[in-house]
Amino acid sequence: MAEHSGVSRRGVLQGAALAVGGAIVLPALTASSADAADAPAKVLPDKDGWLATMKVADLKNNSLHAVDGQPVALARGEKTVIALSTICTHKGCKVAPSKRDQSLFECPCHRARFDAQGDVKHGPAGSPLSRLAIRLKDGVIEVNVKTKVKADDKAGSIEVE
Ligand code: FES
Repeated sequence: MAEHSGVSRRGVLQGAALAVGGAIVLPALTASSADAADAPAKVLPDKDGWLATMKVADLKNNSLHAVDGQPVALARGEKTVIALSTICTHKGCKVAPSKRDQSLFECPCHRARFDAQGDVKHGPAGSPLSRLAIRLKDGVIEVNVKTKVKADDKAGSIEVE
């Protein structure tokens, strides 16, 4: 008879489960928020696709640099910097500077390799990496993640000293 007080046993158990769930979730959200506050802000492209990457002064001559969290890499020669998409032209994995040869990009999926101009040096990829529009703004290299350019397009490289 006592079980008919207006609240079913199932309702009580569901309420208890929600309370316990809420008690567990709330601290988790708090910890997550604290972690997010400590993490560096992720840099995203602006509405036109321009992404601020790094100071040109911090990019060494004859080096490759993969931009954190973005499908973009920079390649600096003696006098120019270009930007390349890191999307492999074989099956779309993300290439990165090779650990075996710092002058090449390498794909982790099937080991295609590309030189600092994005040209294929070793298959199975059959096409070069896409070149992206690049500009220098207040000493910072900006790359347009939405704009592919041809290798001979002036918008595809910046002059550096
Ligand atoms: S996806 Fe890059 S080599 Fe296959």
